[in-house]
Amino acid sequence: MSHPLIYAANWKMQVDPGQARAFAAAFLDGFVPSPGDSYWFFPSAVSLEAAARALAGCPAVAVGAQDVHWEPQGAFTGATSVPLARGAGATLVLVGHSERRHVFGETDGDTARKVRAALGGGLDPLLCVGELLEEREAGTTEAVVLRQLDAGLDGLARDQLARVTVAYEPVWAIGTGKTATPGDAAAVHRAIRGALAGLGHPTPKVLYGGSVNLANAAQLLAEPELDGVLVGGASLDPAGWRKIVAGG
Ligand code: PGA
Repeated sequence: MSHPLIYAANWKMQVDPGQARAFAAAFLDGFVPSPGDSYWFFPSAVSLEAAARALAGCPAVAVGAQDVHWEPQGAFTGATSVPLARGAGATLVLVGHSERRHVFGETDGDTARKVRAALGGGLDPLLCVGELLEEREAGTTEAVVLRQLDAGLDGLARDQLARVTVAYEPVWAIGTGKTATPGDAAAVHRAIRGALAGLGHPTPKVLYGGSVNLANAAQLLAEPELDGVLVGGASLDPAGWRKIVAGG
């Protein structure tokens, strides 16, 4: 039997509240979770409450914000705080997604502040790390990923680390139709798992993301280094997502 898996759906800037309710109804209709598996959804901030309410019936499901500000409140127009996300029903948060880092200019320092804010305010972070194509080609994949990991998690206590999950998402694979091979992903996952254990994480879990879809999910998840997947485009259709979480 395979180990417990986490299936995480990142809806990005898509899925309004009505669409989130319709998705949940279609997804949950007749859905039987696999024992031990978890199903995480990251809607946009405006759809968080609708998604959290509509998916509340299934204990294996959790909902999270796609990003938070590190300050709990204040004059930060457009931003979502940890308490606001919690109030809308989130228990999780993505931190350091590559689009936050590379489209919005988020630094390793910002990511570290967000991880701490999340942990302090009661959200469990899914910290995303991953290298650019030029970094992979230059042979610096591990160095980049481990730097992002260290910067995000340095100094956390063991009980805080225990609440952190990591997603390895090579930037060149996100939304491009290109995926790392299971073997390439596994090598980076091993390095991440080792670094997490070195920091004191009692149960390191590493998800893979980047163009995961129905055609490749089962093959990727057959690699025991993968504790699950973080999926954008292929998580938007409830029927397709149901097939992916059912193992292809
Ligand atoms: P993708 O996105 O599955 O559309 O490549 C993954 C992600 O950005 O988390």
